Amino acid sequence: MKTDRVAFVIAMRSEAEPLIKSLGLTAAVGIFPETVPFETFTGEFSGRRILLTVGGIDEVHGIDNVASQPATLMTWLAIDRFKPDLVINAGTAGGMGRAGCEIGDVYLSGEVFRFHDRRIPLPRFREYGIGSYPSFDTSGLARQLGLKRGIISTGDSLDMTETDLVMIRVNGAVIKEMEAAAVAWVCRITRTPMFAVKAVTDLIDGRETPQKQFMANLRLAVDNLQDAIRRILSSL
Ligand code: ADE
Repeated sequence: MKTDRVAFVIAMRSEAEPLIKSLGLTAAVGIFPETVPFETFTGEFSGRRILLTVGGIDEVHGIDNVASQPATLMTWLAIDRFKPDLVINAGTAGGMGRAGCEIGDVYLSGEVFRFHDRRIPLPRFREYGIGSYPSFDTSGLARQLGLKRGIISTGDSLDMTETDLVMIRVNGAVIKEMEAAAVAWVCRITRTPMFAVKAVTDLIDGRETPQKQFMANLRLAVDNLQDAIRRILSSL
């Protein structure tokens, strides 16, 4: 696969900040239309042209534009404007402790991305809702870099209902987050190779709430994320 142009799609500025610094990227204006709230950063790293986009700030609530809606639009714009050879969705996630996830682990995406909260109990719409969009094969990278790998399940909530948990299990997922399947859908329809890298901030089967764990472990996770991405870019 050609990887001269790599686009990163990241929801929160705090997830992206260490990576922006470590790759030496700088803020770039005029790449996306002025009407969208997303921020863009560009630069070169390991001989590759990099575009990194984050969701920016919601004008009403003053917090980061997270979850599947902004991710979909950001991915579309990144592909349309930057024409990447590869899209990488990076960020933080919850992990399944009983499947071996530990706080701070960095996971590469498994074979497919699925949704756990799009329930449409009608013939064929059920499968459509779940999704199953392909990931670029990360098994070689995982072996080479000693990273864990697993199926990622996406939903629009940080917390989780009983039904979500059942669906995450049915999806065969070990990682739960809020953007990857949306990014993967855009990449599927545009035939753009894509995989995800997610650092674990919380255990979804742990005793504490995800929000408490997320706040406590964000710094460790984003540091590990940036370190893993540098190594990934150097070995693509
Ligand atoms: N991002 C970090 N932790 C998460 C979780 N438990 N669910 C969804 N997104 C997350």
